[in-house]
Amino acid sequence: MTFDVAAVRADFPVLDRRVNGHPLTYLDNAATTHTPRQVYEVFEDFYAGYNANVHRGIHELSHEASIAYEQAHDRVAEFLGADSREEIVFTKNTTESINLVAYGLSQHLDAGDEIVTTEMDHHASLVTWQQIAKRTGATVRHIPVTSDGHLDMGAARDLVTDDTAILCAPHVSNVLGTINPIEDLVALAHDHDAYAVVDGAQSAPTRPVDVGAMDADFFAFSGHKLAGPTGIGGLYGKRAVLEDLDPFLFGGEMIRNVTLTDSTWNELPWKFEAGTPPIAEGIALGAAVEYLDDLGMENVRAHENDLAQYLLRELADREFVRTYGPGIGEERTGLVSFNVDGVHGHDLSSLLNDRGIAIRAGDHCTQPLHDRLDIPGSARASVYVYNTRAEIDRLLEVVDTARDDLDDYLASERYHDLVSEHYHDPRNRGGVSDPTFVKSSEETTCGDDGEFHVTIADDRITEVAFESRSCAVSRAVASLLSEHLEGMPVAEVAELDGYVARELDGQYPELRRECVEGPEDVIREAAREYVE
Ligand SMILES: Cc1ncc(COP(=O)(O)O)c(C=O)c1O
Repeated sequence: MTFDVAAVRADFPVLDRRVNGHPLTYLDNAATTHTPRQVYEVFEDFYAGYNANVHRGIHELSHEASIAYEQAHDRVAEFLGADSREEIVFTKNTTESINLVAYGLSQHLDAGDEIVTTEMDHHASLVTWQQIAKRTGATVRHIPVTSDGHLDMGAARDLVTDDTAILCAPHVSNVLGTINPIEDLVALAHDHDAYAVVDGAQSAPTRPVDVGAMDADFFAFSGHKLAGPTGIGGLYGKRAVLEDLDPFLFGGEMIRNVTLTDSTWNELPWKFEAGTPPIAEGIALGAAVEYLDDLGMENVRAHENDLAQYLLRELADREFVRTYGPGIGEERTGLVSFNVDGVHGHDLSSLLNDRGIAIRAGDHCTQPLHDRLDIPGSARASVYVYNTRAEIDRLLEVVDTARDDLDDYLASERYHDLVSEHYHDPRNRGGVSDPTFVKSSEETTCGDDGEFHVTIADDRITEVAFESRSCAVSRAVASLLSEHLEGMPVAEVAELDGYVARELDGQYPELRRECVEGPEDVIREAAREYVE
């Protein structure tokens, strides 16, 4: 660790906050990082000083805003090792950047073309390429993930062929922390004349990136994950490739000449920035990368790896914890996903939140990867430049007592007695012998995984059971609900409207609202499908 974490922390006033009576311990940085004073002060400077539209006013404020906005592109270009600002398009986030590429490239795709992604891709990539494939007739293929959390490069070499038009892969996995051999993947794509698209959402914030050395055609990233504000991200594209690419959004700013029947496009990068851009956000993004450059991305990388290794070693010592991804000693970014035996990630998150500790639990927008790992979800702790070992120790303290604390937590006055009762003594758990239908929870973002088995006779539910790998609260609610459902006309089930919340008399933390409502949503949806 070669920078002064105490000095870094002083730049982030939010870290002085207390949550539930405890100092905030923010370990949800892979989702969104905090923003230092040097970055958010840009907003005050902009709105108090030179707020105006860019590239369209012959007046001082517009000129100043335009210059600052353009310079922000220069800063980002430098940060990523791009040749010039022409190669840096500002977008809303990684998702929009991938969509921009996908829609642009889709003009060149035909049935028979193949798009290769990976089993560890984020939904931002997976879903986008699925949709593009549906529209163009192309096929999506996926590089498998090995049991130790790496891409199977042997399989990749078989999968990428002369039919491959596009290869899109994450530089770093947002669940496993794996740093993929991105140069090899890019070279593999180019060997077959395919475009190489890199999802850099988790690498740009965490390690030095040099898009030139990487040789990727595109590299997408988000500002809010690298100490910048929300609402701004970017796309690097090789100049020649961007020149050939069709714009994704049309309108003002992106045009050069417009007649009633046709238009021509502006120069790079503005050709891809239709309409009034997020000007203050863009300037703040420039300040964010400058902030990180001042810290030194090599230092950021070392700090992340140091904390991740510490956490990984500590978790490995606990036989009741399972971790995912590369093992101890292998470099990873500052995130570790794990599960505590007998404690669902939501329940762990709640226990941690009680101590002011923020992590993420769920499938982290990588449902297929969690299916591959055969887990409904995971808890993920992720650090950034301001986190310390002491904060990880705080997390570990809660992990150590989580299994015991869960009972007390559910039995506390925050929950209606029914929750603890049904959690400890679930009714109708299992399956039924000949169900009329089985309905699975489709609420995946939170990592809930449950299903109802229902038998119907004469339009009434005669038998109901549930299976669940969901959190304790959802399991208790599924049990409670199952008792209520027996004997009910299906048409009435289709009209359920807050039965569980009323039964619990609203006595549950607002934070767990979705855990309480989830099972009722599932069974209501199933009943509606049956009735229709
Ligand atoms: C690897 C990866 N790709 C894409 C995204 C999507 O980022 P955004 O929501 O900022 O578009 C994320 C966000 O978690 C991510 O981790």
